[in-house]
Amino acid sequence: MKIRVRGGDATAIAADVMIVPVATGDQDGRDVRALARRAGGAALKRALGAVRFRGREGHIAMLPVQGPKRQAIGVVGLGDEARLDREAWRRAGGHARQLAGLIGATRVVVACGSRTVDPPELAAFIEGFSLAGYRFGKYKSGGDAPPDVDELTFAVANAAAEKDLAPLWRAIEIAGEAVTMARDLVNEPAAVKTPTYLADVAKKAAKAAGIEIEVWEPKRIAAEKLAGLIAVARGTHEEPRFVRLRYRAKGAKRRVALVGKGITFDSGGLSLKPAKSMETMKCDMAGAAAVLGTMTAIGRLKPAVDVDAFIPFTENLPGGNAQKPGDVIRFRNDKTVEVLNTDAEGRLILADALLLAADEKPDAIIDLATLTGACMVALGTQVAGLFANDQALADRLLAASVDAGEPLWQMPLVAEYKDDIKSAVADIKNIGGGHAGSITAALFLQEFVNGVPWVHLDIAGPAFTEKPLPYAPKGGTGFGIRTLLRYLTTLAESE
Ligand code: BES
Ligand code: MN
Ligand code: ZN
Repeated sequence: MKIRVRGGDATAIAADVMIVPVATGDQDGRDVRALARRAGGAALKRALGAVRFRGREGHIAMLPVQGPKRQAIGVVGLGDEARLDREAWRRAGGHARQLAGLIGATRVVVACGSRTVDPPELAAFIEGFSLAGYRFGKYKSGGDAPPDVDELTFAVANAAAEKDLAPLWRAIEIAGEAVTMARDLVNEPAAVKTPTYLADVAKKAAKAAGIEIEVWEPKRIAAEKLAGLIAVARGTHEEPRFVRLRYRAKGAKRRVALVGKGITFDSGGLSLKPAKSMETMKCDMAGAAAVLGTMTAIGRLKPAVDVDAFIPFTENLPGGNAQKPGDVIRFRNDKTVEVLNTDAEGRLILADALLLAADEKPDAIIDLATLTGACMVALGTQVAGLFANDQALADRLLAASVDAGEPLWQMPLVAEYKDDIKSAVADIKNIGGGHAGSITAALFLQEFVNGVPWVHLDIAGPAFTEKPLPYAPKGGTGFGIRTLLRYLTTLAESE
């Protein structure tokens, strides 16, 4: 997509559609009146009235009038001018993309009127616009997907922004491709995206991005004593894989380890889930997909920070050799775990990965996992839970998440609740006492980080959306990538 910024009159610019962003109450303000003088006249005003357009956030409408260059004209509600932050611009970009998609536009001009828009606001709009263009069309016959937009032009009062926009646009494009990759992998049916398949995808992606990769097969997994991965993989005919990625930067002062949960399908195992709960369980590798996407973007953005990734992949199925409730497994650090519920499998495979990550003594470990339904009960589908043993690290991620528009909410690691994961026969058990399930899951993970500064993101809610969002259609969202990239690039630039 080509991005251009032009001064002055949007109606003079050739495009398939002209999009007019309007704040609440401005539907008969100065800019809309000026537009009506050049296009549509009274018909434009009548059309706005007919659809009761008042600039409410997310209200979009195509108007039955044309610009002088035969542009279709559509309006996008921005909501309250006073609350027009970067996320509002990002959503507006998403709504604009939906409008363009309605008529299959490939050249779009955005009429900003007398508004001066800062490069970060324009960047947010562009980010929302391009993320909203995503479709997973591979299994759909007939083309209901809108065509790609080749040209996005902004007509603004301050035309200077194009130069400032170029580096921002490059970062958005790279992050966007990582998000697309993660969404594609999450949306792919589990029958296709087996652990072997995902390890191959990781190999190709690593090669293209110029980062090192190692893929461990069952023999190496056994030699490394990855007890959790071995235990979960017993129930399926699919071989597990453990993927390690390594990005090394010139002049890096810090090293970060990323860990992603890669359950390619979670049936629950012998502690079988009900059918309804299984419908979306191909999404249980969204943490892994986010880490993979982030690593490929890092290889291209080249920030001055070293990054290692640790990704266990397996299915969780109830086969004849499956692990059973009551089994005890021994991890590579000799800690023993009583598996009382085979559906609490994520923490088992993450424990292996966290131990390996902690062995390397990085400055920080960040794990992403669709870990608990309990986190969705607490925070819903649009906010991820953040747990941390280090407040400075938590604060960095919280700041990055605000910037990215990927909401995180910090949850407490209540030390007293460790009683809930005490086992009668082993060191700990893999389920809690029934309350605060996302916290007891996080406390379990904490047992495996050996005191290294660590953040756990429970992305069970926002990793997968069952209703379309302003800049993500139904399905995998790629949640976490844009936060991680902002965190890593900011860290690289800090003293
Ligand atoms: N993958 C699920 C968590 C999940 C639920 C992700 C809904 C996305 C949407 C996880 O493995 C799981 O099954 N967790 C159990 C834990 C319980 C058995 C302690 C849960 O949340 O019910
Ligand atoms: Mn499960
Ligand atoms: Zn799971």
